[in-house]
Amino acid sequence: MKDFTVDNLTDEVVAAYVAGATSPRLAQVFESLVRHLHAFVLEVELSEGEWFEAIQFLTATGQQCDERRQEFILLSDTLGVSMLVDAINHPKGGQGTESTVLGPFYVEGAPDMPYGGDIRRRHLATAEPCLVTGRVTDADGQPIAGATLDVWQTSANGFYDVQEADAPQWNLRGRFTTNEAGEYALVTEKPVSYPVPTDGPVGRLLAAAGRHAFRPAHIHFIVRAPGCEALVTHVFVDGDPYLDSDAVFATKASLVGEFKPGTDTDLARRCGLDGPHSHLAFDFGLMPAGG
Ligand code: BEZ
Ligand code: FE
Repeated sequence: MKDFTVDNLTDEVVAAYVAGATSPRLAQVFESLVRHLHAFVLEVELSEGEWFEAIQFLTATGQQCDERRQEFILLSDTLGVSMLVDAINHPKGGQGTESTVLGPFYVEGAPDMPYGGDIRRRHLATAEPCLVTGRVTDADGQPIAGATLDVWQTSANGFYDVQEADAPQWNLRGRFTTNEAGEYALVTEKPVSYPVPTDGPVGRLLAAAGRHAFRPAHIHFIVRAPGCEALVTHVFVDGDPYLDSDAVFATKASLVGEFKPGTDTDLARRCGLDGPHSHLAFDFGLMPAGG
């Protein structure tokens, strides 16, 4: 029988996980995970109290998850891990629109909406009406008819519908399809900056690091078309005070859009907007799948 010591433990654990791993990739991931985890514990000389606090923190993170809330995604986002995964899987350099984090508030199955449809399912007094228009194109710049855009955002009070017990279902969510010219149009509210949830373990983590919890105002999009790689992204509001200190490190300059006072009154009327509103024009470029 072997004695496990600080000097041999890491190699022994690696060997135990790698020897019978069911794929080479899994063996690679196991080895790297164990080596980095052990190196971290050794480097900071983790005390037993700190180790137990970490266990309690992860336990609380799991307990905070349900079908309306995903505290583990929030943890990954606030530690910058989600953006690392995004950067590795969608390297900068192509001509397509850049991607960014999905975030924890995407809900599948939002209602299909017509061209120009309105995703405001209630009207808060502080909400500023907003028209969003643009085109979806392929890698050659050709318009894509029949592309779908899943859209979601917070309302003027800074909450997603799923965070509020009494918000109408699907408030500020919808799924749009581009027309023959590859164009989409929708009516929403101008987004506002908002804090990520701070009433759980991730909030305590941010506070312990002296970090604020705000994200710059944005609209989320998932754009899909047959034969193209799905694009998960946001459009941020130009001039937002949090563009340089996003709590989840997810901003990219190419994703900042200009929300201008709306001037195309004909189009606005066709979309049911009569009064003053802001207008975001934003085009999305998709890349071929598997490219
Ligand atoms: C969001 O934009 O919805 C979001 C992203 C990451 C963490 C929390 C919220
Ligand atoms: Fe968001």
